[in-house]
Amino acid sequence: MSVQLSPSILSADFSNLAAELARVSSAADWVHVDVMDNHFVPNLTIGLPVVERLAEVSALPLDCHLMITDVDKWGPGYAEAGARSVTFHVEASGAPAALARDLRRLGARAGMALKPGTPIDDHADLLPELDMLLLMTVEPGFGGQQFMDHVLPKIRRARELVSAAGLDVWVQVDGGVSTQTIERCADAGADIFVAGSAVYQADDPAAAVQALRAQAVAATAGSWWAVAD
Ligand code: DX5
Ligand code: ZN
Repeated sequence: MSVQLSPSILSADFSNLAAELARVSSAADWVHVDVMDNHFVPNLTIGLPVVERLAEVSALPLDCHLMITDVDKWGPGYAEAGARSVTFHVEASGAPAALARDLRRLGARAGMALKPGTPIDDHADLLPELDMLLLMTVEPGFGGQQFMDHVLPKIRRARELVSAAGLDVWVQVDGGVSTQTIERCADAGADIFVAGSAVYQADDPAAAVQALRAQAVAATAGSWWAVAD
């Protein structure tokens, strides 16, 4: 079971993104790019033209997290722009299965995100259409928020559903992931970890990624779900 780290550039210096990407490129597996439209969430970040350029200059593949409305319409453009993984919110999609198929057809991995209050079981039928499930452990919109422990049972449930179906769907956590919380996430069943402030507020972001990875690997090794697999 492999652990993957996807630092979020939401906490990086937006005036110097290429350099900020380079600071984690030796240590991370992906770069997590948070696209917000000020409608789905009360915050505004970057859109398609910036993602297109980031895809060109990044040594790491882009893991694009779309916090936007009308995602059925706009989501595929991020796959066309070169994001290797595109995650839409199920709460924002009218046709999630069709969207996931579109993303895959365009060569991206298809991810589906759930806000903290959105139940997993209501959407379990979509798992075969997906490459990744993103379980938010804060309300989407801002970095630096406190991790919500009450999401842990949902992570565990997601891992149970994925394993029971015999699927290779990654379980990603995003929000408040840090040295204080990453072990709980790994133990519950997450295998891909987003961290924004815990990485980019550190003096050495690459070292912060390495430290998080070491903790996640150790916690996974002793977890119920990796042992059972
Ligand atoms: C929040 C974003 C996150 C954010 C996480 O809506 O989806 O990716 O960057 O930041 P931290 O790790 O600081 O909670
Ligand atoms: Zn995110």
